[in-house]
Amino acid sequence: MGSIWLAITFLLMFQLPASMFVARSTKANAGDMATMRVLAQFLGADRALGWGRASPDPCDGSWLGITCDASGYVVYIIANNSGLTGHLPRETRNLSMLAAIYLNNNSLSGDVPPLGPNLMEISLSYNRFMSISPEFFKDMEIVFSLSAVNANIIGPIPEFVGDHFKYLGTLKLQGNSLFGHIPTSFASTRIRSVQLQDQRGLDKLSGPIFMLNATNIVYLDLHGNQFTGPIPNLASNIEMEYIDLSKNALTGDVPQSLMQLHHLRVLNLSDNSLCGQLPKFIKKYDCKD
Ligand SMILES: *[C@@H]1O[C@H](CO)[C@@H](O)[C@H](O)[C@H]1NC(C)=O
Ligand SMILES: *[C@@H]1O[C@H](CO)[C@@H](O)[C@H](O)[C@H]1NC(C)=O
Ligand SMILES: *[C@@H]1O[C@H](CO)[C@@H](O)[C@H](O)[C@H]1NC(C)=O
Ligand SMILES: *[C@@H]1O[C@H](CO)[C@@H](O)[C@H](O)[C@H]1NC(C)=O
Ligand SMILES: *[C@@H]1O[C@H](CO)[C@@H](O)[C@H](O)[C@H]1NC(C)=O
Repeated sequence: MGSIWLAITFLLMFQLPASMFVARSTKANAGDMATMRVLAQFLGADRALGWGRASPDPCDGSWLGITCDASGYVVYIIANNSGLTGHLPRETRNLSMLAAIYLNNNSLSGDVPPLGPNLMEISLSYNRFMSISPEFFKDMEIVFSLSAVNANIIGPIPEFVGDHFKYLGTLKLQGNSLFGHIPTSFASTRIRSVQLQDQRGLDKLSGPIFMLNATNIVYLDLHGNQFTGPIPNLASNIEMEYIDLSKNALTGDVPQSLMQLHHLRVLNLSDNSLCGQLPKFIKKYDCKD
């Protein structure tokens, strides 16, 4: 619920010129038209959705799920549940005004390349991808939501480009096969909702999570990984609502500062190697070492 609300908030914040996006029928510019022809073929959307069948122009209203702005640039690609079986081509990044792409619940495979400089919302859950390009976030500084849940992604979380990358609000990558550390550049984002739980590989996400102390996270689910080290002091995240760090290898004391989080609804620290007293609880954890 929280993340949906947040997504809506960010949508309102960053999709200001909504009137730009309402054009239903216009003429595509030559660049986007060429790129969309490549996409139609690579995504298998020419067959599955008939893209290009009635008209070569993706902006004339005949391409299912495509919305353009008044200048003939593609701004939305909405193709959830569409039976797509191909992969995302590198050319996708040529769509210079693309703001949102929804490709949930298809059978897309291959690597996820960098997708476009103006993308704000990316939703790729329930697919059969391989990996996310390490360059993924490099040219996408204004992404505020990336969801790729159960998308078969193998490999590390792509590095964020430090200070350039300020808007990411929601990161949902649970149920993949991610491994390696959380990039320290997390600390310089405005990330609010982080769901990286239940990675499926033998090697899961690991290493320390200290960089989370400097963020504005309100929803944090890291359960079912191999994170180590202490629970960071999260007292500055005063809006924090949800913390699930269960089934990891965290050690040390449970920080008493958790008590200062008055909005906290869920705190699950079970299945770690913590010691000390749980805030608010009488129960004591026994130190394992
Ligand atoms: C995409 O952009 C590249 C680099 O600007 C260009 O070489 C290529 O022809 C473009 N592809 C399409 C399909 O327009
Ligand atoms: C696409 O699917 C996702 C996940 O089921 C959902 O959250 C989103 O609202 C859908 N988007 C559209 C535009 O249908
Ligand atoms: C996913 O798509 C298939 C058809 O392609 C559909 O039967 C199924 O209900 C969809 N699942 C969700 C969660 O939308
Ligand atoms: C976060 O933790 C690091 C490492 O423990 C520490 O250097 C830094 O001062 C902390 N930052 C905040 C805002 O608490
Ligand atoms: C806490 O986490 C454990 C392990 O992930 C899980 O089995 C349990 O159901 C969770 N407890 C609650 C109250 O959600």
